[in-house]
Amino acid sequence: MRALYPALADGHAYLDGAAGTQVPVSVIEAITATYRAGMGNLGGAFAASDRSGAIVADARAAVADLVGAAPEGVVFGPSATALAYRIADALSRAWTAGDDIVVSRLDHDSNVRPWIQAAGRAGVTVKWAEFDLVTGELPTAQYADLVGPRTRLVAVTAASNAIGTRPDVAAIAQFAHGVGALCYVDGVHATPHGPVDVAGLNADFYSTSAYKWSGPHLAALAADPGLLETVWPDKLAPSSNEVPWRFERGTLPFADLAGVTAAVDHLAALASPPAPGSGSLVPGGAPASRRERVLASMAAVEAYESALFTRLLGGLAELDHVTLYGKAARRAPTAFFSVAGVTPRAVAEHLAARGVNVWDGDNYAYELCTVLGLEPDGAVRAGLVHYNDASDVDRLLAGVASLAG
Ligand SMILES: Cc1ncc(COP(=O)(O)O)c(C=O)c1O
Repeated sequence: MRALYPALADGHAYLDGAAGTQVPVSVIEAITATYRAGMGNLGGAFAASDRSGAIVADARAAVADLVGAAPEGVVFGPSATALAYRIADALSRAWTAGDDIVVSRLDHDSNVRPWIQAAGRAGVTVKWAEFDLVTGELPTAQYADLVGPRTRLVAVTAASNAIGTRPDVAAIAQFAHGVGALCYVDGVHATPHGPVDVAGLNADFYSTSAYKWSGPHLAALAADPGLLETVWPDKLAPSSNEVPWRFERGTLPFADLAGVTAAVDHLAALASPPAPGSGSLVPGGAPASRRERVLASMAAVEAYESALFTRLLGGLAELDHVTLYGKAARRAPTAFFSVAGVTPRAVAEHLAARGVNVWDGDNYAYELCTVLGLEPDGAVRAGLVHYNDASDVDRLLAGVASLAG
């Protein structure tokens, strides 16, 4: 499978997947084929325009299969951050002074600041869910106190992009629903690491960025189309009033959307590649839908990454000069650590010189790094994805070990 990713041929250990993955050749080819075929904007009377329409429909269906949503409720945007601002802006028009919202200090700032800024404009109170500084868990019980009759929205991540914690989103969303509030779930870090079922999470909105799961740089938001019907964002007069179109501003990136579909097809094939000449078959010959194949693949990805993560955490824990942050019971395979006496940037440079790519800084987990006392330098993040292997992990461990003393 690694051979499907041309970028991996440079020999670097790409442990920076949490900041964006490499793409397989099928994604690159889908994007270039779209440009080569001749492309038109939507709504024209000619074939190239029809092709773009089909690309958008295919991409909505692909994201729907990836996260378990309805294609008619999939909204595309340039980034998860842009989509969060779009929805915060639209939802907050119905908020009034005295209402409140709940955000968490575990979250990436893109699921915090858009809500705080919208709340500020509407005179709405912001309440904070706190994570346990030692374990990194986000205790669910606190939401019983945080959520009240005036709560309009609860924003929470499905996985921390710094310490990996996977909160009990379904239970948190239930608190929100109990008082008629909505739950906006940041699925950007969770999506690449295991099966996702938006309905099972009780999420009203679920955001995901394709560039974190082997796709191009764009994002999608999945919501119940019926819910989207009740929300009116700012839009141009002649642009569509229909859902999900009215949430998409301007012309969509058609070639990249072809890449989104290719990325989902790539993931769907990880555990059960299509049998040559016989369409998509699971072992044993039964036809499987793409959704079923995605679920099987992502379960395999989760199991594979989990074993690799155990190796990574075990190796780091043996190093006395390393401090690891977070040890939640349910985690995405993302390690966040400091090295005594060496700045995170210097650690990353030391590793880069050894062909190991890691991220340094707060990774926009700004509140988390603030309460952990890690601002402004943050820490070092090594994140695993399905194309990493034991040699990537061992090279990282050797590089960090060589910083001792
Ligand atoms: C958990 C999480 N949420 C949101 C984002 C922001 O995504 P985007 O770059 O698509 O705005 C990131 C990006 O790193 C992330 O890891």
